[in-house]
Formats: sequence, structure tokens, C-alpha cells
Amino acid sequence: MEEQDQRARHVAIIMDGNGRWAKRKGLPRAIGHQRGVEAVRKLVRAVEPMGLDCLTLYAFSSENWRRPEDEVDDLMNLMRRFIKSDLPEFIANDVRLKIIGDWQGLAPDIVEMLEDALEQTAKGARTLAVALNYGSRQEIVRAARLAAEGQELTEEALDRHLYTNELPPLDLLIRTSGEVRLSNFLLWQAAYAEMLFVDTLWPDFTPEHLQAALDDFAQRERRFGGR
Ligand code: IPE
Ligand code: IPE
Ligand code: MG
Repeated sequence: MEEQDQRARHVAIIMDGNGRWAKRKGLPRAIGHQRGVEAVRKLVRAVEPMGLDCLTLYAFSSENWRRPEDEVDDLMNLMRRFIKSDLPEFIANDVRLKIIGDWQGLAPDIVEMLEDALEQTAKGARTLAVALNYGSRQEIVRAARLAAEGQELTEEALDRHLYTNELPPLDLLIRTSGEVRLSNFLLWQAAYAEMLFVDTLWPDFTPEHLQAALDDFAQRERRFGGR
């Protein structure tokens, strides 16, 4: 009997390369970030036809605060505009928004917008998880602390206390822009995820690129230590 291709349920993406995209075109970094948001919008629209249950996007790391203040401001303003402009589309398209990371530490108006967006999309069938002020080591320490408080320091208990606890297991982790590192993203969750590093800069990443990644994933043999 022929083996069936496996389908990815949960894909996460480290969206990298906005700055280099802009630089190559002689444009300000802010334009690169703007075009990055447009790439996100197109991708979210493609999630349903691709049969994904969950798409997780790394939007702002806990280390990205180290960037110049005007760049951080640009990114936060883009976030505000994105939530405002795209929330109706999420609701209409049955997308459930989920935020992972220490997002309560963002500006109060953003926290408020996010709380509202989470509430309004709570019943969506497919999940868009956005990592904001996210750092995997912080997430693991937090989970370990919570698990220890419950006197249950096991893998299962720790898993339950991660921000990703109600998301499907991570199948595929993609990073754009040619960098081959995880930059403190989903370190625990990626233990047996398939990985794909592509040279495409994030603003140029299209639903076709994601489909190609899913086709690649479908062909891979996952062994999880067995044989
Ligand atoms: C990714 O693009 C966006 C964020 C990290 C917020 P970069 O801004 O890191 O782009 P490069 O890596 O400098 O090209
Ligand atoms: C990782 O990209 C974070 C996001 C994509 C949000 P960075 O550009 O911040 O990562 P490094 O600094 O190159 O490792
Ligand atoms: Mg980068």
C-alpha cells in the first residue's frame, strides 16, 4: 500500500528580511516593514485553501527592543494599523487570533486593541497565532515556574503552561531571508518540527512559496527517533 502524503496542520514562520528588502531597493526600512505586513495579509487569506489549522508568525521578538527607537515605533504603529484594518476580515473569514509572548507588556492601547480582537475572533475555526514580544527562553522559564507551582515538573505539565498550549503540535518551521538560526523562537516546540530555510526576503514571500513549503513537507519522512 502506498503511503499517504502527510499534511501539515501547524506551520510557523520567522518572517525575516524586511530591512534587506528595503535596502536592496534603496528604500527606508519602514517601507520594508510595510511590505512585510502586506505579505502577511496575503498569506492569511491563503491559509484556508491550504488546509492549515494554524499559522504562527514571529512578528516581534523580546530582543527586537534593542533596535533604534524610531524603528520600534514604526513596527508598533504598523501593528496598530494592521489590527484595525484586518480585524473585520479575520472575523468574516473565521480566523481566530491568538497572541503568544509577553504581549501584556506592550503599550496599553495595543494591549486593549488585542484584547478586543481576541474576544471578537474567539470562535474562529483556523488560528492565526502572532508572536509579539516573544522570547522562547522566557516562555520556557515561565512555564517551568508555573509547572513547579503545581508540583508537577513534567514535560506534559510544562507543555501545558507554554503560550502555545492549545495549538496543534508544530509540524513545520520556516525562516525566510537566508539566515539559518532560530533567534529564540519556539525552541521547545521545534524539538521534532521539520525545518525549512529559504533565501526569499519576507516581503517577497507569497502564498505560492508557502504552498511549495507544504509540498516539500508532505514528502519528508518524520521518524521521531523510531525507525
Ligand atoms: C524582520 O525583518 C522583521 C522584524 C524582525 C520585526 P528585519 O527587520 O529583521 O530585516 P533584516 O533582517 O534586517 O533584513
Ligand atoms: C527574528 O528576526 C525576529 C522576527 C522575525 C520577529 P531578527 O532579525 O530579529 O533575528 P536576528 O537578530 O537576525 O537573529
Ligand atoms: Mg532580521
